[in-house]
Amino acid sequence: MTITLHLSTLTSQFKVQFGSLDNLICIRSPGRVNLIGEHTDYNDGFVLPIAIDRAIYILAQPRSDNKVNLYSMNYLESAEFTLETISPTSPASWVNYPKGVLSLLFARRLVNHGFNALIYGDIPVGAGLSSSAALELAIAYTVQELSGCTLAPLDMIKLCQQAENEFVGVQCGIMDQFIIRLAKEHTALFIDCRTLHYEYIPIPNNNIRVVICDSGVKRGLINSEYNLRQEQCKQGVSLLKSYFPNILALRDVCWTDFINVQNNLPELVRKRARHVISENQRVLDAVKVLQENNIPAFGQLMNESHKSLKHDYEVSCPELDILVSLAQQFDGCFGSRMTGAGFGGCTVSIVHSEVVERFIDYIQAEYQKATKIKPEIYLTSASSGVSRLFLEI
Ligand code: GLA
Repeated sequence: MTITLHLSTLTSQFKVQFGSLDNLICIRSPGRVNLIGEHTDYNDGFVLPIAIDRAIYILAQPRSDNKVNLYSMNYLESAEFTLETISPTSPASWVNYPKGVLSLLFARRLVNHGFNALIYGDIPVGAGLSSSAALELAIAYTVQELSGCTLAPLDMIKLCQQAENEFVGVQCGIMDQFIIRLAKEHTALFIDCRTLHYEYIPIPNNNIRVVICDSGVKRGLINSEYNLRQEQCKQGVSLLKSYFPNILALRDVCWTDFINVQNNLPELVRKRARHVISENQRVLDAVKVLQENNIPAFGQLMNESHKSLKHDYEVSCPELDILVSLAQQFDGCFGSRMTGAGFGGCTVSIVHSEVVERFIDYIQAEYQKATKIKPEIYLTSASSGVSRLFLEI
């Protein structure tokens, strides 16, 4: 269970940890939830995430030497290292996210002195809401604000993704870092993960709410299964090349072409490719219907996305399926699906605002009845990306 703390509490704690509040800055870096477009980013495809109103906060002050002193209020743990000698902490720990980002910034001479930082977050960890990418961006933005050298948004996004791929060792796509850096309030972000072209799509806020339900299942298999899916997608590309020689990724195959040849593929690869190719089309359709304010059609696409993730991509789990099917049966819920990498974590549902309180009570009661797990439920709105907050000290 997470507790939302006030900035004044964080400031007092900073003084306790580091002795002074001189030159203190504060950075807020949100979590994210993906509305549609799952497991498409590493296939050069399309995604449509929003940033959520839960975030990681960093209070930081510059130091004159090259030491970095971090204190996590969630883990009640300190970490100390110097910029010249950064190596991964073992066993794996939260410290590796800041370390990964800082080692890349240091190698590129984008950080020129150390700092003290207090870190606190109310994004649930391990729930698939990108608390790790939020921490990466929070650190990169802290360095930018402390050193005064601006890193272009796309450079910051790629650097944080590289830190996660190479330093932390998780082969994630670019979606999480992208939305956390560039999100704007009340909008979803349509991202073309090949060209990195993006477009803000306003979310009609008159009568719908975004509801995140945490299954309480930690994403156990995630690393090995995630990497396996990437491999299977690559196999799909190489087999489909014999029909469409110019393709570079599953993104390049359109649905009608795929239908014509899918029966020639081995079953597993066929299912994986079918998910990615159909999901890309669903994202394009979802953007269109959202722009037309057609929420029932948007919800329908979310429902189809879940079906495809469950049956074709096989990244759901029984608890996520229960949450989704409960939500889909509720009158006033437009659509529901698992979100993020899968194998546990959260679902995302779009619910009519007039019935949202009843929806929450219903899910809480019925999910607990079915699984004996009490779900955490977060009512969220599309929030802004990583930024500096004004501190009143
Ligand atoms: C994780 C990864 C993202 C993306 C999703 C699945 O969140 O970090 O890059 O691949 O899984 O859509």
